[in-house]
Amino acid sequence: MVRYKIAIVVGSLRKDSINRKVALSLCAMADERLDCAIVPIGDLPLYNQDSDANPPAQYTRFRKEIAAADGVLFVTPEYNRGVPGVLKNAIDVGSRPYGKSVWNQMPAAIVSASPGSIGGFGANHQVRQAAVFLNMPVMQHPEAYLGHVNDDSFNTDGKLKDGPLKDLVLSLSKAFGDWVHLIHESRRLLAPQ
Ligand code: FNR
Repeated sequence: MVRYKIAIVVGSLRKDSINRKVALSLCAMADERLDCAIVPIGDLPLYNQDSDANPPAQYTRFRKEIAAADGVLFVTPEYNRGVPGVLKNAIDVGSRPYGKSVWNQMPAAIVSASPGSIGGFGANHQVRQAAVFLNMPVMQHPEAYLGHVNDDSFNTDGKLKDGPLKDLVLSLSKAFGDWVHLIHESRRLLAPQ
């Protein structure tokens, strides 16, 4: 069976982040084809184009880890109806220097989670907008605006409690496995022999 390395990028730095817990739960019950690991973004200095010639070590580490992946899963909160600055910064860091974006052609899916009822829709779609611009094939369905997620959604080990939310995250992981496989198989079939 083919296994795909998935970089999970979480848009919250908070210690008890519900989004990180969703990401870790997803990793723990990931589709058997997916080998998931969170790629940290909290240490990335604010992107400055002047640094393209001489990038900080944190940028190099981040770009290498994303480039080594077969797919990317963004899991993010919504801040003020938009994408948190830390995540946008990481997306910008990965996109440069010009022509060397690590996001190019990387299959992706976007999950947003919030205690609110809209489930981070605004942030989710801002990430999607950037991902489309960056030429990432982004999974369309199931859409993943996870609303009403809070500390009570998780067991004491930090994993999702049994219930509809866990079922949805499980189905997301299966759909993402299919998506990543589809993109990589199509590329393999289309590659010149
Ligand atoms: C929020 N929160 C929030 N929630 C939401 O659904 N829509 C929003 O626009 C915002 N805006 C917002 C701004 C800022 C600055 C903060 C700190 C929070 C609430 C947010 O969803 C909640 O704090 C989550 O728990 C954040 O996700 P993590 O850190 O738990 O993953």
